Order: sequence, then C-alpha cells, then structure tokens
Amino acid sequence: MLFQVTPVTFNGKEVIILDQTKLPTEEVYLKIDNLEDLWEAIVQLRVRGAPAIGIAAGFGAALGANQIEAVDYTDFSEQFFKVTSYLATSRPTAVNLFWALNRMEKLVKENQSASVSDLKALIEKEAHDILQDDIKICKQLGENGLTLFEDGMTILTHCNAGVLATSEYGTALSPIYLGQERGIHLKVYADETRPLLQGSRLTSWELSKAGIDVTLITDNMAAMVMGQGKIDAVIVGCDRVAANGDVANKIGTYGVAILAKEHNIPFYVSCPTSTIDVETATGAEIPIEERGAEEIICGFGNQTAPSKVKTYNPAFDVTPNHLITAIITEKGVLKGNYQEEIAKLF
Ligand code: MRU
Repeated sequence: MLFQVTPVTFNGKEVIILDQTKLPTEEVYLKIDNLEDLWEAIVQLRVRGAPAIGIAAGFGAALGANQIEAVDYTDFSEQFFKVTSYLATSRPTAVNLFWALNRMEKLVKENQSASVSDLKALIEKEAHDILQDDIKICKQLGENGLTLFEDGMTILTHCNAGVLATSEYGTALSPIYLGQERGIHLKVYADETRPLLQGSRLTSWELSKAGIDVTLITDNMAAMVMGQGKIDAVIVGCDRVAANGDVANKIGTYGVAILAKEHNIPFYVSCPTSTIDVETATGAEIPIEERGAEEIICGFGNQTAPSKVKTYNPAFDVTPNHLITAIITEKGVLKGNYQEEIAKLF
C-alpha cells in the first residue's frame, strides 16, 4: 500500500511495536524482550486495535516460547500454556487476543511428538503467519468494502481501525486506502473518540500521512454533521461480533449507530472473521473492559475533573445488530439475518 508503517513485528528475540501512546507527536519503536513488558504494552494501548492485539499476542507467545528452557514436550507445553494464560489476562474484549492464543495452543497440542526446538520454530512461524494472513485479509476487507462506496463519498469513522490497528490497510479504513490506490477518492470525518482519542491521535494521523482528505471532529459533533448532510456512510471496526451480529467496538460506537439510523445513513462494520465469536451468543455476553478513572479525570496528564469524582469508564459498547446495515468480512458482505449469515461462515 502507499502508506507504510509497521505497528508490530518480531525478530525472534524482541517484539517490536510502534508505541501508539506517543502518537501523533513522536514515532517511537519499542523493542520488547520480556513478557511482562509486552503485557504492559497491550494493557496501556501501546499496541491496540483488535487484529494488532492478536498479532502482538502471537508474537508474545513466540517470545515466551523461545525463552523456555525445557527438555521434553511435557515440560515445554506446561510452561508454554502459562505464557498464553498470562497474555490472555491483558485485555478482555477484543476476541482476536484469545483467537491468536488459542491458535498457538492448538499448534502445540497437535505436535506432541515434536522436539522442543521444532516446537519453538513452529510457534514462531505460526506467529508470522498470523501477521501475513492479516495483511491479506485486510486487503480483502478493502475489496469487499469498496463495493459499498462510490468515488467522492464522505465516510464517518469512530476510533481507529486503520493500519495502526492491524498490519496493513486496516479494517474500516481499508476501502479508503484501497480506493486511493485505484483513484476512488473517499473523504473521511474522524470522531475524536474520548477518552483516549484514538480518532484524533491515530486515525487523523495515519490518514493525513497517507494523503487522505480527513476532517477531525469531536464526538459530540457527529449528529450535527450528519444532520447537515455531510456524511454518506459510517464505517467502523470492531473488537468482537457475537453469533447474532451484535458488535462490540470502542465506546461511543453505539451512539454513532443510533445517529446514523436517525439520519438514514448506512452503518457498516468491517472485521476479519477472527473477530467473530460464535461462542458468544449475543452482545450482552461480551465482556466489556472497564478502565481507570484517571483516563477521564486526568487524561494525558491534564486534570479536567475533581480528582475524587465518581466515574464510570467502559472502554467499549455494544451496537445491536438491527442498527447495522452490513458486516464486511474477508469472506463477503453479510446483510439481513446475521445469525444465519454468521452460522454459514463457520
Ligand atoms: O481500545 P482500543 O484502541 O484497542 O480499541 C480499538 C477499537 O475499538 C477498534 O475499533 C477495534 O479494535 C477495531 S481495530 C481494526
């Protein structure tokens, strides 16, 4: 793609991540050589966005595996499952984390006769495969998403579901980047996305860098710009899709979906099928991460509320399936009865 940045990669000894907490002012790459720091990087959103969390978890598992000293399968697998269990405690909502770790555990369980060194090599290859697969999947999301858009449209997005949240292209932003490569120009309105400002710090950063026409608004302006007829469609990424098509995504997404409905604007969700969790029946069962009060009271070190005020800080909300016009996946665009459409995919 035209704009290149690598949110997360692995050199065999270190997981290398672009520290997204430093954006948009500094581009700092961290070389992480231990599990505790990787866990912290995921918790602190230095690497974030559902697919990128999955990729980071895969590389974390490979990092942990490479550091295991074991003589046989039983010893190795016992230590390896401790690594995966530990990484699984980092963030609860994005199912890609668990999807990637399960993929690693399955690999180990299926190779009980392999030597310890072969197991380490298999795990490392699997982690790189997750990254390479994500690149292809994200591009396909762009292909499928582009079937819904026409040159000159203006799209509103919430949070960051772009390159920074994946490997390349992004999920929600993939049609925009792919369109740019093909001369189909889509303009973007980016919601700022309180409280951690993924929209302003990350989405407007990467789209501007890529030369896409992006307009930043604060979250409370979305209704106004829709009412003014400035928005043709909404597209967002997501952290988990339940079996019935309810979607968990960054806090505020639900409100945007209601606004889109009110203004007769299509509301699209774009995600790899690894974000669909058929084990979770409905959105009500999706675990929603709650984060610390300081993010609201003293965001980015700037106190904007009394320090002892009571707060509630869910990081995600659930958009019910009836507000979603279509779910774009790499396997096709799902519409209508999501329960049935999703069941057909798995
Ligand atoms: O808390 P974050 O920044 O990890 O939340 C990210 C989102 O909500 C994204 O929209 C979602 O993970 C999709 S990323 C392609």
